[in-house]
Amino acid sequence: MSTDSPQEPRTPPLKPRSNFNNWISAAGAVLATGALFSFALLVWMDFTEGEKNPYLGIFTYIVAPVFLIAGIALAVFGAWAQRRWGIKHAATVPDKWRLDWSNPTQRRNITLFGFGGLLFIMLSAFGSYQTYHYAESTQFCGQVCHAAMNPEFQTYQRGAHARVECVECHVGSGAAAFIKAKLNGTRQLYGYVLDNYNRPIDTPVHNLRPARETCEKCHWPEKFHGNIDMSFDHFLSDKKNTAVSIRMLMHVNSGRPGSPLAGIHWHVSPDSTVEYYAADADRQDIVWMRVTNKKDGSARIYRNEEFKGEPPAGAVREMDCIDCHNRPAHVFPTANDAVERAMGLGTIPTKFPNVKRVAVQAMTQKDLTTSADASQKIADFLRNKFRDDADLPALIAGVQQVYAQTIFPERKADWRIYPNNIGHKDWPGCFRCHDDKHKTESGELVKASDCTSCHSIIAQGKMAELTTISPTGLEFKHPGGEYDEELKCADCHNGGIQGK
Ligand code: HEC
Ligand code: HEC
Ligand code: HEC
Ligand code: HEC
Ligand code: HEC
Ligand code: HEC
Repeated sequence: MSTDSPQEPRTPPLKPRSNFNNWISAAGAVLATGALFSFALLVWMDFTEGEKNPYLGIFTYIVAPVFLIAGIALAVFGAWAQRRWGIKHAATVPDKWRLDWSNPTQRRNITLFGFGGLLFIMLSAFGSYQTYHYAESTQFCGQVCHAAMNPEFQTYQRGAHARVECVECHVGSGAAAFIKAKLNGTRQLYGYVLDNYNRPIDTPVHNLRPARETCEKCHWPEKFHGNIDMSFDHFLSDKKNTAVSIRMLMHVNSGRPGSPLAGIHWHVSPDSTVEYYAADADRQDIVWMRVTNKKDGSARIYRNEEFKGEPPAGAVREMDCIDCHNRPAHVFPTANDAVERAMGLGTIPTKFPNVKRVAVQAMTQKDLTTSADASQKIADFLRNKFRDDADLPALIAGVQQVYAQTIFPERKADWRIYPNNIGHKDWPGCFRCHDDKHKTESGELVKASDCTSCHSIIAQGKMAELTTISPTGLEFKHPGGEYDEELKCADCHNGGIQGK
């Protein structure tokens, strides 16, 4: 039987109210609307101009939703609390928290609240926009993750690409790369916060943006570089710290502008592809490669002596810029090179006998990398070697500075971990493929494996010898004296003390 009868007096003062009509739920609704608004905006930015920034995903898909859920939860809690209140106090004060338009003070409060809420929503949109741009900045990548990225940030600032943002090279485009980078970025940030990331950080970086997309935005691969004249300046580790240089023309591309790429940049020519399979994770041990002529489809396969079979599926990589220029932004110089550069600049005074050897020794002593006061140990070591001298403090400061910029024990990052593949002196580099170990079935060797195919030496030796230039190219005169030509340079040169 119904209690509603048409005869009952029509005087309910207020309509039955929704449990959601209360101040707590209203605040929750504003919060949720703001979060939803931010979320929509972030997603929109992510798809239109985003794709570059993995960390943005954290704000878009974690922070904004958390606020959204919190807002909804608050609204529901308000309704629940209101209902409880209603049941308990129904008879006496049923509508304590109600938003009541008919009450003039309440009306004013509601209006104020409405404006406040609108302002909040607008601010959250502005905040998301700022967050978006902050998360993609070099400052965020390089400095907020300070300890983790410090070595890369420092080396980056000294490199040719110090004005190119991290995300330009590091985050790929396309839907798959997008999702992968989002997940990866989230994982990296958690790893950083929880302090459990790999030391050293793994390289090669598999979600690096494809080189042909990044580098070619600014570098035109068919650009005719011709021969590039490069000088390599060194000091010998003898008593006099004798300066020696090698000046050579790098045959980056031979031929003429517009003619098919030949020379070093032939590897990225549009007419052929070079693919390879490396047996190790660092891509240092290349055992198989295939050259395909794109015009007629013919292919040649080279294997080294140890490798007989076929490379595993999915492990073959097509060569691009990064296989040679793998350190465009983060060169970790060897201790040998870093000391030599400082000697050239004068920050390590060359008046001390044998200073190159001693400085390199100071930087690479075994007990240094495990000690917290490496700087102090370097100072002690140098003071021991060179007793009192007016320039000793300058020498100590010079070596400490070189050490701090070259070796990063807290991240286990230095040249021994991060090879540079561009040459062949201190790492295998070009000689990973250009040696006489890789052959086709019929026994053909890889082209360009003798000393004159990639460069010609136009001057070499000590100061006086550098004044005559040979246009036809000189035979290499090893600054370290006679050496066994069967050995690769990197068998002796390892960036530390030579010949060991
Ligand atoms: C010009 C392109 C470029 C720019 C700009 C760049 N990187 Fe890199 N980065 C690379 C390449 C190439 C590698 C090595 C990739 C490989 O060998 O697979 C690398 C590697 C890394 C690694 C892995 C560890 C290592 O040293 O191999 C980290 C971490 C890193 N970069 C952080 C950064 C940060 C932080 C910035 C901005 C401050 C930045 N990168 C800017 C190209 C770039
Ligand atoms: C946003 C533009 C930009 C992008 C992207 C870029 N570069 Fe560069 N790169 C430059 C500029 C500008 C210079 C010249 C810097 C100078 O002269 O100091 C340069 C210089 C170089 C040089 C010669 C200078 C040196 O000392 O190393 C090489 C090699 C190079 N870039 C390779 C690369 C590779 C490989 C990539 C892709 C991973 C790349 N660049 C991506 C702008 C770019
Ligand atoms: C086979 C290895 C190799 C590949 C692949 C390669 N390069 Fe180079 N590139 C070199 C060498 C070697 C030089 C000479 C300069 C040097 O030795 O540092 C050079 C020079 C350059 C220079 C001029 C540097 C200067 O000092 O003016 C640029 C720019 C450059 N490369 C960009 C690229 C880009 C972009 C790609 C990919 C499309 C690429 N390279 C692919 C080996 C390579
Ligand atoms: C992944 C293996 C690999 C690496 C690494 C590599 N190359 Fe090559 N390179 C090849 C192959 C394969 C050929 C073609 C050989 C043939 O046709 O017999 C070639 C050909 C060349 C040629 C001759 C191009 C022409 O005009 O025909 C030069 C010059 C050259 N490489 C220089 C370099 C330099 C410099 C480096 C290091 C910066 C380097 N290569 C690194 C595989 C490699
Ligand atoms: C496959 C190409 C290639 C071949 C073959 C080659 N080189 Fe080089 N070489 C390079 C490249 C590339 C560099 C420049 C590295 C850089 O930019 O730092 C270089 C650099 C050098 C340097 C200067 C290194 C330094 O740091 O002072 C010397 C010296 C040298 N080569 C000697 C030789 C000799 C000797 C041979 C024969 C045994 C040889 N090269 C064969 C590609 C080659
Ligand atoms: C048998 C070991 C051995 C081999 C192989 C070797 N070197 Fe050296 N090299 C030395 C020694 C030892 C010195 C003297 C080091 C010093 O005075 O600091 C030296 C000095 C040098 C120097 C000048 C100083 C410096 O440390 O940079 C250059 C440049 C050099 N070698 C290049 C090469 C090149 C390029 C190759 C390969 C073609 C090569 N070396 C092969 C042992 C070797």
